[in-house]
Amino acid sequence: MGRPNAVNEARWLIQQLRRDFALPAAEHTLTSPVLNRLQNWLQRLQADEPFQYVLGNVDFFALTLLVGPGVLIPRPETELLVEEAITAYPGTGAICDLCTGSGAVALALAHALPHTQVVGIDISEQALYWAERNLSFLQLANVTFFQGDLLRPLTPDMRFSLLTANPPYVAQQEYLQLPPVIRKHEPRLALEAGHDGLDIIRRIVQESRPYLLPDATLLLEIGSEQGPAVLQILSAAGYDDCRIIKDYAQLDRIAKARCKV
Ligand SMILES: C[S@@+](CC[C@H](N)C(=O)[O-])C[C@H]1O[C@@H](n2cnc3c(N)ncnc32)[C@H](O)[C@@H]1O
Repeated sequence: MGRPNAVNEARWLIQQLRRDFALPAAEHTLTSPVLNRLQNWLQRLQADEPFQYVLGNVDFFALTLLVGPGVLIPRPETELLVEEAITAYPGTGAICDLCTGSGAVALALAHALPHTQVVGIDISEQALYWAERNLSFLQLANVTFFQGDLLRPLTPDMRFSLLTANPPYVAQQEYLQLPPVIRKHEPRLALEAGHDGLDIIRRIVQESRPYLLPDATLLLEIGSEQGPAVLQILSAAGYDDCRIIKDYAQLDRIAKARCKV
């Protein structure tokens, strides 16, 4: 497969080599550890591994996050979820980020709102490995990660004024049409969610209510075709002020709702 962004990718890899091995900017002879690293990267790129896994990091909402096999690479469209969450945050109460993956949303919110406690939850041990690595890399004191199924790791007394999630939302059939580089390398658990892609969203909407403070906001990233169905799920579950927010490509991207309780 061709690499349309090859020149930039080469630049980023060289910058990373300079940082990792403290190489001077001037020309010099490459030592064998540096050459071994380069060789390993080239082999992985030839095997069509995603560039961000090979580089080992990705920029997301003013943060650099460590990523690698086993965790979804945070996508630029998810930055909109963070923007909306910062705007919706009422100024008090804790935030819960479900399906946290690398911790992208939880960490970006904790960084932007340093006086707010943020809890991130993911079912995948591999994803949580990256979230914890990111937490120690970024040294944020206001984030805690738990491993488990949606809200199950929480104690019954925990309450949140804001709940975010970028859950898996790809339908089974649609998953089979995704580019091979995604299907081969990124976890299926992070992407696919039942016959219509809404299995996890339905559960989040149902199971979150007991953990939400009065007037809490729920913000969910959704698929571009899922707006009407998600609005129906939210209204049927008794949420108020349900609406869909479009992304910069004018596609449905975020479902927002308020929980009066
Ligand atoms: C689309 S990824 C989002 C990752 C991250 N929030 C981001 O935006 O980059 C979905 C995540 O949901 C997790 N997940 C899937 N089913 C789950 C469940 N039942 N409970 C908790 N996490 C789950 C996956 O492991 C994956 O990390």
